[in-house]
Amino acid sequence: MNKECKNVYITTPIYYVNDVAHIGHAYTTIIADMLARHSRLTGANTFFLTGTDEHGQKIAQSAEVRNKTPMEYATEVSDKFRNLWDGFDITYDKFIRTTDEDHKIGVQKAFETMYNKGDIYKGDYEGFYCVSCETFFTQAQLIDEQFCPDCGKPTSIVKEESYFFKLSDYEDRLLKWYEENEDCILPRAKKNEIVNFVKGGLRDLSISRTSFDWGVKLPESLNEPKHVMYVWLDALMNYITALGYGKDEENMFQWPASVHLVGKDILRFHAIYWPAFLMSLDLPLPKHIAAHGWWTRDGEKMSKSKGNVVDPKEVADAYGLDAFRYFMLREVPFGQDGDFSQKALMDRTNSDLGNDLGNLLNRIMGMSGKYFDFKVSSVDLMKFHSKEMNQAHDILENIEEYIHKMQLNRYLEDLWKVLTIANKAINDSEPWNKMKDGKDDEAMALVALITNIMAKVSILLNSVMPEKTSKIAESLSFEINNETYTKLILNKELLDDVVITKVEQLFPRIEEVLLETAPEVDRTKAEAEKKEVKEVIKIASLEEDNLITIDKFFETSLKVGIILEVEEVKKSKKLYKMQVDLGEERPRQILAGIKEYYTAEELVGTQVCVVANLKPAKLMGMISEGMLMAAKDENGLCLIRPEKTRAIGTKIS
Ligand code: MSP
Repeated sequence: MNKECKNVYITTPIYYVNDVAHIGHAYTTIIADMLARHSRLTGANTFFLTGTDEHGQKIAQSAEVRNKTPMEYATEVSDKFRNLWDGFDITYDKFIRTTDEDHKIGVQKAFETMYNKGDIYKGDYEGFYCVSCETFFTQAQLIDEQFCPDCGKPTSIVKEESYFFKLSDYEDRLLKWYEENEDCILPRAKKNEIVNFVKGGLRDLSISRTSFDWGVKLPESLNEPKHVMYVWLDALMNYITALGYGKDEENMFQWPASVHLVGKDILRFHAIYWPAFLMSLDLPLPKHIAAHGWWTRDGEKMSKSKGNVVDPKEVADAYGLDAFRYFMLREVPFGQDGDFSQKALMDRTNSDLGNDLGNLLNRIMGMSGKYFDFKVSSVDLMKFHSKEMNQAHDILENIEEYIHKMQLNRYLEDLWKVLTIANKAINDSEPWNKMKDGKDDEAMALVALITNIMAKVSILLNSVMPEKTSKIAESLSFEINNETYTKLILNKELLDDVVITKVEQLFPRIEEVLLETAPEVDRTKAEAEKKEVKEVIKIASLEEDNLITIDKFFETSLKVGIILEVEEVKKSKKLYKMQVDLGEERPRQILAGIKEYYTAEELVGTQVCVVANLKPAKLMGMISEGMLMAAKDENGLCLIRPEKTRAIGTKIS
């Protein structure tokens, strides 16, 4: 790396290893990859970091229900993330895991430094903790005095000895930083939320735990073997430990980060805790923290239990990686939420990519071949088409500002304005008539105009669609690199004489959506059905005062399962701990109060009906991931089972 050049450091959040990667994760990573590729093209020393966040109670619990050690489980999922990014050609320079030895050393060093500075003290913590979000809440923040305001899961009261970080001391310095650095948090609306939050007052932050041990231990000098670090402290430090902080510091010259990309849900950690930690460490603060919105699916939040998670690999395999990348960046303004629909992806691919971009290349190949034996010269371009070329240059001159402001959709919109100049020029100048009239030089100038526009656009689109733009460059016989970027974009020069090569169609038309999905809800039909149901209810006057519609019933996912193992829960008269196969990747652990009615032998190998989308609950310290259906009257309890054996996982309706 050339240390004389501008340093650019781009990060994604590190992904929790208790989830499968979905388009939300792919979104953050694709944006970061686009920024990193663009930065390299401009010649900057670029370092792009991604990785996985592997400590904490949530991950230890996920491993436990799978009968794996936390490390085995973390490695398995971390590898899945890395493989996905490798398959997507994500150009990360380092993939960090918080279980890496170097990372742990760096985090301990940071803890020690903050402690020695007097920013960390020991106290007692009592609060409501949500394991799923790894976050403490005050009682006032809870929903119904019990549930996590972020994810809705039950919280538990935790009282433990804890180390605290004096976050309250940093209020004024944080506010000053926000004020003096207009764009430190992007988009602006999100920055205002943060500023208001900090103005509301900050409480000191509990940064160590004693209730579990899957985490980085405190530095040895503190002699506190029972404490592990709070996962968010551990996780945020990855941005510096990845550069060698606390160890060889080899790449610390890349610090501070140019941009930390994050989803809006984790902005608070990055925009408040992280800068405060850095101030305590006397390190410079990141230049930008950019928060993007959330992707939903047909208007709903994606979740495994709803079964509506969009698999990025499936989408990219079906529609093409470059089309997927383009769609993600173009469809939704950065910072806003977006809804994923295949129809929208198909329309964008056909119209923006197929019609505007792909067809322009076809026209270059067609006209240059038909009229000029595939040879294109820019000699007369400015004589006949200076107006269009200058218009294009004016747009391109300012376009990178959008990248700096994270307005990536506008960046793409402007590139498309340049393509429109080319497409319009063809229609206006009718080169086929020019050829008929013997004005070959004018026709050549037109072909040169659109060839040059195509070359310039493909250079600036390369970070978004690396594969297709390389194909375009191949067709126009040039290469996309820093040299051509400098020449054609910065210096506004024109292509030397080029020979056009034919390449296959860039974006063949897609006639219908390519992936099978649940049928989209027809809202008008659904409304009509609701009305009809209301009327039927009136007429039927059933003996139930709590009637629900069929849609409500279908919110419950009922499935046929088979009991694989039954274990007694010591200290409980009622509970059995069971492993129940629902035809998923792994069996579910289900705790059920049926010990008084069945022996373990009677249960193993029998089929049962399971409520499969219940929020997991903790019973006697163990997780239960579903509920068996049963009927109980004065004669006792019996399980509800399919009358005949059915395939495991069959939906019950
Ligand atoms: N491990 C923490 C981050 C620590 S960084 C020091 C974490 N991990 S996560 O896996 O839950 O989320 C990682 C990123 O994915 C977040 O930026 C989050 O916003 C993003 N997304 C998760 N679901 C998403 C959507 N449905 N849509 C868009 N992005 C979302 O948080």
